[in-house]
Amino acid sequence: MEVLMRNVFQTLGKNRSANQLAKKYGLRFGASRFIAGETIEAAIHTVQTLNEHGKVVTLDHLGEFVFTEEEAIESALMCIRTLEAIAEAGVTSNLSLKLTSIGLDIRKDLCMQNLRKILDTAKLYDNFVRIDMEDYAHCQVSIDIYEELRKEYDNVGLVIQAYLYRTEQDMHELNKCRANLRLVKGAYKESPNVAFPDKKDVDENFQSIIKTHLLNGNYTAIASHDEQIITYTKQFVKENNIPNEQFEFQMLYGICVELQDQLVKEGYKVRVYVPYGIDWFGFFMRRLAERPANVWFVVKNLFK
Ligand code: FDA
Repeated sequence: MEVLMRNVFQTLGKNRSANQLAKKYGLRFGASRFIAGETIEAAIHTVQTLNEHGKVVTLDHLGEFVFTEEEAIESALMCIRTLEAIAEAGVTSNLSLKLTSIGLDIRKDLCMQNLRKILDTAKLYDNFVRIDMEDYAHCQVSIDIYEELRKEYDNVGLVIQAYLYRTEQDMHELNKCRANLRLVKGAYKESPNVAFPDKKDVDENFQSIIKTHLLNGNYTAIASHDEQIITYTKQFVKENNIPNEQFEFQMLYGICVELQDQLVKEGYKVRVYVPYGIDWFGFFMRRLAERPANVWFVVKNLFK
């Protein structure tokens, strides 16, 4: 049953008509538990509140299904606007973005042109941009773009997914450019030809890449709500004298808030991933797919 629901949400999240419809009707079904709002003002307000609770943030202006050059440029402008708003408000947040939202599926050079403008703005404000990792079809090209831009910018990072078989090799390559990586389990529906189908293998690989990246001396963001992974990391950094400045924990807005607070209390750096914008549906569906128990929130909110 759980696998079936997972598949339904993953498929719905990729459905263009469902996404368009959701855009038209605004945040619904309890999505505001995971999404800060539709406007930049709402997003900045959320960042301020999280900062007051000792957490730093990465803001993501949601944008999926970008098919025209105009849409890609508009989306890149929203990223720039987000960086400006962060600087104007004096809050502590960097930016996360998806390459498809700034034109990757249209033309690679358009995407890179947009990314350079965003990275230049981030540099101007002494800020940082993280490239989210999307589905397997975009993995190699995302790494290629990252490696190319890493030669020009030191304020850019990438995400690597523990569920992919190729990840160990990718980490080896990315170590050459001292990549700043966010490590995650992986959120997309992938074939067993390319990704570990069993959670146990994903978790094992996750621990292995956390260990490798930290021991290589690279900055590492461990993005997970899994207490076993967090406990493993805490123990590993302690045993290997890894300084707190070399890593951070990251979690999604609205998920495991008590655990976030606990880590802050223990003195760890905690960054909350805060998505905002009208294009909320795909992100929301991926969160439901990760934990079909969240459907309960949807059901409750249907009657509100
Ligand atoms: P796991 O799925 O095993 O969950 C452990 C526990 O966490 C669950 O038992 C539950 O208690 C809680 N939990 C997890 N997900 C939940 C949810 N949706 N709702 C409520 N509780 C939940 N993926 C990707 O492919 N590309 C990317 O760029 C990113 N970026 C990213 C940034 C950040 C900051 C985070 C935290 C995650 C991502 N992800 C991602 C998503 C990631 O790949 C993964 O799907 C989720 O983090 C869930 O995996 P966990 O490691 O939390 O473990």
